[in-house]
Amino acid sequence: RDMTVMVTGGAGYIGSHAVLALLDAGYDVVVVDNLVTGFSWAVDERATLIECAIEDEGRVRAAIRGHHVQAIMHFAGSVVVPESVTDPLKYYRNNTAASRSLIESAVTEGVPHFIFSSTAATYGTPDTETVSETSPTVPINPYGMSKLMTEAMLRDVAAAHPMNYAALRYFNVAGADPQGRSGQSTAGATHLIKVAVEAATGKRDSVAIFGTDFDTPDGTGVRDYIHVSDLAAAHVAALALLIAEPGRSHTLNAGYGRGFSVNEVLDAVDRVTNVQVVRNPQGRRAGDPAALISDNSAILKTLDWTPARDDLDLIVADALAWERKLSERA
Ligand code: UFG
Repeated sequence: RDMTVMVTGGAGYIGSHAVLALLDAGYDVVVVDNLVTGFSWAVDERATLIECAIEDEGRVRAAIRGHHVQAIMHFAGSVVVPESVTDPLKYYRNNTAASRSLIESAVTEGVPHFIFSSTAATYGTPDTETVSETSPTVPINPYGMSKLMTEAMLRDVAAAHPMNYAALRYFNVAGADPQGRSGQSTAGATHLIKVAVEAATGKRDSVAIFGTDFDTPDGTGVRDYIHVSDLAAAHVAALALLIAEPGRSHTLNAGYGRGFSVNEVLDAVDRVTNVQVVRNPQGRRAGDPAALISDNSAILKTLDWTPARDDLDLIVADALAWERKLSERA
């Protein structure tokens, strides 16, 4: 592929996997990351890393020009939902305002394609078991709103300028590169599968179960866990579609369309690790919906993408392999 893609947040968890998928597909990659939560070692050495904030329009525009960037994949942002409740302005700065700057750089430099990391948190607490792209978007936290506002900017910008975009609304991303080249490395992670494999490798004493009285089959929260490598592949497929059909943009759920409860996830962790992780039932976390499962028929129909790792045990096994690698590194 004779095309350079700029990946913001390419030193982070999902971004670093997208970098691998793009490089493996033959694209050239320029990463823009301020390394506040990302790691320079997480960026594959075939990519160029520019350590810079995405809202630094001077440097971002120079990078777009210098590398003839033809597409931007925008992963950079803040992602901790409870933190967004206590520090909303951080989210409107790092997600909404910084995205506005990046989009302006893209428009000014004439970048034709833009792919955005959106979230199922845009749906808030759905009243249907699965959510489709036409379900109401009523975020219940500033994180979801900060992302929804960026979706709105992209929609309006794409109507006014020669740029098309894909907004992928991620469900619960987990796992690690099956070849062991990257994984979730953030310290103090709060995501269930990450927390559980930390417990299974002796880094925590127990795993909290936030709520056992939800209206779900076993009372614990149900989520649609998607393997990070499948998600990265969906981004590459979305880019191919944006290139093939200029003038058309897409907002797509990125999930597998099925859910697992917290207990089912912990059962899988026990099975895969041969460790009985200690479960510590607690009250509900603020703002947690009982269940959040994608209707993924649109992404399956729209993209040339077939999930390759839709298997909870595989997701957990890859997360565990990466966790063990991190232990060796420490
Ligand atoms: N959970 C526990 N114990 C933990 C961590 C989580 O029981 O230690 C439960 C939660 O209550 C929830 C499920 O496990 O039922 C998943 O929780 P996560 O924190 O892993 O993920 P969330 O569903 O809260 O949020 C994730 C991302 C968000 C994104 C959202 C969209 O973190 O960025 O998915 O579905 F917006």
